[in-house]
Amino acid sequence: MKNVFVLDHPLIQHKVSLLRDKNTITKEFRELVEEVAMLMGYEVTRKMPLKEVEIETPVGIAKTKVISGKKMGFVPILRAGLGMVDGMLKLLPMAKVGHIGVYRDPETLKPVEYYCKLPLDVSEREIVILDPMLATGGSASAAISFLKEKGVTSIKLVCIIAARYGIEVVNREHPDVEIYCAAVDEKLNEHAYIVPGLGDAGDRLFGTK
Ligand code: PRP
Ligand code: URA
Repeated sequence: MKNVFVLDHPLIQHKVSLLRDKNTITKEFRELVEEVAMLMGYEVTRKMPLKEVEIETPVGIAKTKVISGKKMGFVPILRAGLGMVDGMLKLLPMAKVGHIGVYRDPETLKPVEYYCKLPLDVSEREIVILDPMLATGGSASAAISFLKEKGVTSIKLVCIIAARYGIEVVNREHPDVEIYCAAVDEKLNEHAYIVPGLGDAGDRLFGTK
């Protein structure tokens, strides 16, 4: 596995355990996904460039630093990625948000794109793709390819639980993309669900099953 950062902060690990619990109800699940996304965002933005500025305080001039470099954009993969947007926006409220709709065909398990709306200046932004689950890697890889076709050159993928298989697929198809996750699970079942995983993230977020 290359370019993979497993975020082992105790708060992230604790909240992921609660997310995995099948007794966690939709309301709590939704809150936890948002909180985990915010905590992950803290780590994902760690290498953001800074520039020096001078700020006038009430008692003098402070030589200090502010974020510089490319502006950011968040692109959740519908549906489940939506649950991570507000957590990320708490840290970077000025970021723009694009949406890519991809679902897995239940028969072929291949990704099917059904929606896309991106910021006009997407190619100039540093894009962070959000999706709680990386299973076969098909959805994430398709979303990355799509963004690259639109001219995006800087892409990170943030997922909460990643299967080793999906990581390897993204590594192979997009070796330039860094993957941030909170846990790496070893197995996929016959329906390509992550085992032990947390179940169907979209259904648990929105209460659809
Ligand atoms: C889930 C999940 C990912 C995808 C991961 O979405 O949110 O997008 O599956 O699987 P993959 O790595 O094998 O592509 P799903 O297709 O269930 O759609 P939904 O979010 O609309 O429920
Ligand atoms: N999508 C999910 O929501 N969960 C999985 O385990 C795999 C794909």
